[in-house]
Amino acid sequence: AGYQAKEREPVSGSYRGYQILGAPPPSSGGTCVIEALHILQGFNLRQYDRNSPRACHLIIEALRRTFCDRARWLGDPDFVEVPATLLGEAHALQRAADIDVKHATPSEQLAPEIKLAGEGDSTTHFSVIDAAGMAVANTYTLEHSYGSRVVVRGAGFLLNNEMTDFNWKPGHTDRGGHIGTPANTIAPGKRMLSSQSPTIVLDDGRPVLITGSPGGRTIISTVVCLLVNTLEYELPLREATDAPRLHHGWLPDVVLFEGATEPASAELVKALTELGHHVQAKPHRQGSANSIWIDVANGKRTGVADCRREGKAARE
Ligand code: DON
Repeated sequence: AGYQAKEREPVSGSYRGYQILGAPPPSSGGTCVIEALHILQGFNLRQYDRNSPRACHLIIEALRRTFCDRARWLGDPDFVEVPATLLGEAHALQRAADIDVKHATPSEQLAPEIKLAGEGDSTTHFSVIDAAGMAVANTYTLEHSYGSRVVVRGAGFLLNNEMTDFNWKPGHTDRGGHIGTPANTIAPGKRMLSSQSPTIVLDDGRPVLITGSPGGRTIISTVVCLLVNTLEYELPLREATDAPRLHHGWLPDVVLFEGATEPASAELVKALTELGHHVQAKPHRQGSANSIWIDVANGKRTGVADCRREGKAARE
């Protein structure tokens, strides 16, 4: 009821002699477009082909810095003071000064004062063993952030929204990895198919390994890799966890391999390709298997956090 339309002056900047007019806050659009162009102005971009690595690199670095400033400063000007200097060429010069033409700047380096959340918003796996040897492998998932956004009254926890774990297009199975087979299609009262794989390995009835991971369908592959590394190849848990993981989920018919772009894996990738596999680099690292190994000989417990995501062993 209290809403009022506001008429605002456009923001303005210049690029190669042109005047650029853009949308002012509370849109970040005009300010960011102008800041990015101002940063690029000093690099005489046209000396490089448009699709050359150098031109792309510079555009990326300009955008990285612009978006960092967006996070730092921009909001509704009725509530926050947006520095007018953002639109100035002096600011852009300052922002451009630490662009390394040969290396990407890690984004976090640009804003050490902006504290990044210590915990991901994704599925988490933790493993626990108590003094009496009671073991728990717990993979906790809400699917999307805040799950279904429904909190159980009086209990204080959120319900998940795992509906996308059903085969939601009946009959539609495709090479992209959509599965439409009947076993997991939606039906009243039916529970959706998860890939969660919290796992406890026993030796003679006593736990030796507690593990699991997030990662949707790749969870299964992650846990298989970890079990093969420890139980078959007898790698210490740290090495077993760090080793590059692979995933094959039937469809798409590709092998996602964390190590695909590493020179050390070149021969392996070539050999797998010759065997008829379609090997692709994994765009993200696969999973986060936080595990415990228990040495049955002496009872020593080794907790290993997966360095792919945040995590910590309470005792290593
Ligand atoms: O239950 C499952 O298989 C998925 N809903 C788990 C989600 C997940 O692991 C997301 N993690 N990164």
